[in-house]
Amino acid sequence: MGTSSNKKNIVIFASGSGSNAQRLLEQFEHHPHIQVVALFSNNPEAFALQRAQKFGVPTAVFDRPMLREGKVLELLLPYKPDLIVLAGFLWLLPASFVQAFPDKIINIHPSLLPKFGGKGMHGQHVHQAVIDAKEAETGITIHYVNEHYDEGAPIYQERCPVEPNDTCETLSARVLTLEHRHLPRVVEELLLSEKNSSKTPAA
Ligand code: GRF
Repeated sequence: MGTSSNKKNIVIFASGSGSNAQRLLEQFEHHPHIQVVALFSNNPEAFALQRAQKFGVPTAVFDRPMLREGKVLELLLPYKPDLIVLAGFLWLLPASFVQAFPDKIINIHPSLLPKFGGKGMHGQHVHQAVIDAKEAETGITIHYVNEHYDEGAPIYQERCPVEPNDTCETLSARVLTLEHRHLPRVVEELLLSEKNSSKTPAA
């Protein structure tokens, strides 16, 4: 399953379509230092699972009891993840799970956090709230994950305008384009900077 190489290992968590997962799978398919080693989903119908399988990446599906009782952690550990990327993953991770991977879990959110984050703020709900609030701009936030929805330390933000006649559809398409452009790059930078720092000889 490709975890025995010297490459940095990414595990993706996704609940739905997985277009961000697709971008990560493409970016790291032939990468010299980074690989996607598994995709986990809470949704057996998630199209993200099929996307991973097309790349020959193993998948796992879990339910709430498995997450609560530590079974997901057990399934995950053999993949030795260097980074867990929540790419459209809708459940809150339990504190025990988050604490098992300090600074190794990141999420992408389709707004400029702390605006329009928190429980229930996902997908079209976010973009509708941005339009209703008559915001002039919105964007994406890539951030570390803690035990609360959308509250971990920010890593990267990118902005785009909200146009006067935007609908949820036009706005989400603009924001998704930003996600696809920046998520693979930010993930790569995070993992490569970690790689370089771990190679620094001890003084
Ligand atoms: C994206 O907007 C992401 O920011 C959010 O959920 C959506 C997932 O889209 N967390 P996809 O499944 O990657 O297409």
